[in-house]
Formats: sequence, structure tokens, C-alpha cells
Amino acid sequence: MRISLIFTAFATTALLDSAAILAQDAGNVGHGREVAQAICSACHVVAKGQLASPNSEAPPFPSLAATAGITSIALTAALATSHRRMPNITLQPDERRDVIAYILSLK
Ligand code: HEC
Repeated sequence: MRISLIFTAFATTALLDSAAILAQDAGNVGHGREVAQAICSACHVVAKGQLASPNSEAPPFPSLAATAGITSIALTAALATSHRRMPNITLQPDERRDVIAYILSLK
């Protein structure tokens, strides 16, 4: 019983997650900016006016946005996999969707 409950919760999360991926284009840019400023700005330049990355290894978001081939799908994959030097940051599906919408809005 317990196991099937856990499995159901997991399956539901996975479903919600793919719904979030599908709904990505509808991301809330304003909320994404808040998430970026609250979490990502510890290392990344998150806005065009900001001068230097606090962590010189972290690519500025405006440069990421300008990189060819950077789509919401590519960013979703990047944020869902672990990085060598970037700590794994667990975002809620809506936070991830919105921060991606925000990064892409910097194009
Ligand atoms: C503690 C520092 C730190 C924080 C906080 C951080 N990053 Fe990073 N990030 C890095 C570093 C360093 C890199 C480059 C090296 C790497 O990819 O491991 C990076 C790379 C990236 C990349 C490049 C893609 C890739 O696969 O390498 C993306 C996209 C990214 N970060 C998004 C984010 C977002 C969105 C947030 C906020 C939710 C965030 N980062 C928070 C340090 C950080």
C-alpha cells in the first residue's frame, strides 16, 4: 500500500513535470526574474545591467540567451542534469519553467 502510494506520487510528479515542460512557452517571466534574482544571482549575472558574474565560471544569463541552440528544451535538460561545478539546485516545476522563460526573454 505504502509503495503504491509513493509510486503514485512519483508518477503524478512526473506527469506534472511533463505538463510543465509542455507549458513552458507560457512561463511567467516576472516570476522567473524573481527566482533568478533570489537563487541564481549568487553566481550568475542574471540581468543585462549587471556587470560581472559573482562566480566567474557561471555564464551570464544574457550570454546564455544569445547562444545558438538554447531553447526551453535545452535549458530544461541543462537544469535537470547535474553539472560539474554548479551545485544541483532543485527548483519547483513552476520555478524552473518561469526562470527559463525569463532567461529566454533576455534574447
Ligand atoms: C553556486 C553557484 C551557482 C548558482 C547558485 C547557479 N549556478 Fe548556474 N552555473 C554555475 C556554474 C559555475 C556554471 C558553469 C559550469 C557548469 O555548467 O557546471 C553554471 C552553468 C549554468 C548553465 C549553463 C548550462 C550548462 O549545462 O552548463 C545554466 C543554464 C545555469 N547555470 C542556470 C542556472 C539557474 C537557472 C540558476 C538559478 C536557479 C543557477 N544556474 C544557479 C553556478 C551556479
